[in-house]
Amino acid sequence: MNKALKIFITGVNGQLGHDCIRVLKEKGYSNFLGTDIDTLDITDEKAVNKMILDYKPNIIFHNAAYTAVDKAENNADLVYKVNSDAPLYIAKAAKEVGAIMFLISTDYVFDGKGSTPFEINSPKNGLSIYGKSKSLGEDNVIKTLDKYFILRISWLFGINGNNFVKTMINLAKSGKKELNIVDDQIGSPTYSYDLAKKMVEMMETNKYGIYHVTNDGFTSWADFASKIFSECNLDIKVNKVSTNDYLKMNPNQARRPLNSRLSKESLIKNGFSLLPTWQDALKRYIHQELKQ
Ligand SMILES: NC(=O)c1ccc[n+]([C@@H]2O[C@H](COP(=O)([O-])OP(=O)(O)OC[C@H]3O[C@@H](n4cnc5c(N)ncnc54)[C@H](OP(=O)(O)O)[C@@H]3O)[C@@H](O)[C@H]2O)c1
Repeated sequence: MNKALKIFITGVNGQLGHDCIRVLKEKGYSNFLGTDIDTLDITDEKAVNKMILDYKPNIIFHNAAYTAVDKAENNADLVYKVNSDAPLYIAKAAKEVGAIMFLISTDYVFDGKGSTPFEINSPKNGLSIYGKSKSLGEDNVIKTLDKYFILRISWLFGINGNNFVKTMINLAKSGKKELNIVDDQIGSPTYSYDLAKKMVEMMETNKYGIYHVTNDGFTSWADFASKIFSECNLDIKVNKVSTNDYLKMNPNQARRPLNSRLSKESLIKNGFSLLPTWQDALKRYIHQELKQ
């Protein structure tokens, strides 16, 4: 491992950025610069360019994004600036300094049709403003740089920020006795700590390209919720509902893919190990980090 590498990280106040810093420290890297909107607005091209050209990183972990999927539907201008234009600014600066860029993307670049896992080169067809904007962000990086890692992830949970796991626990603790949870969206939870470890492993290789990086195994939101409640010994009934019925009860939501299964073929082909199962990740998160 080359501990002299300089790493530039965006989104450090978010779930993944926080764990990137944590893993870098754990692995003994000390040359890194973390930013978030309070220190660098990534939609400001001049500021992005200046900070990256001044710092001259070897690696860029670009985690920051507009991540509020439902709110994004009514804020398209800002969402495209953050999720599509900013990756282009960062990629251009990365090219100037010769840095390797990681862009974190999403299962929402796909339309979720069918039931087989999406491959890295499956046609993209995002259903939401968020999904389309992230897809354009990917395209902007690919057309600008050769040395990139685009990691598509899904259903992220980490210690620093809000996520499905925390929401479920809070709802159960607030006294709810039953919840209606969607059962026909199938995908994989991703623990930001496990993902950050994989990013740090990948950054010292030259196996550039697109990867799908989630915890192993597939589940539905309803079964994920049931597992969270059983891990925490919370007594709450999960009513399985279809996406259509859920949308009738909760209108004004962005469309989400039903099939969010992502194939891990590119990890395997390039000799990277798969992440632990989502059940194992959830257990560690709940008992070691949330201390439930
Ligand atoms: N969360 C998921 O389930 C999920 C699923 C698939 C892919 N992803 C992708 O994974 C990555 C990490 O997600 P996450 O959950 O860690 O995100 P997060 O917790 O929402 O953190 C994103 C960070 O980016 C910051 N940010 C937003 N606009 C910015 C701007 N203009 N300039 C600088 N920083 C800005 C946010 O600040 P504010 O909070 O102040 O806005 C926030 O601190 C993102 O690229 C996301 O698209 C996430």
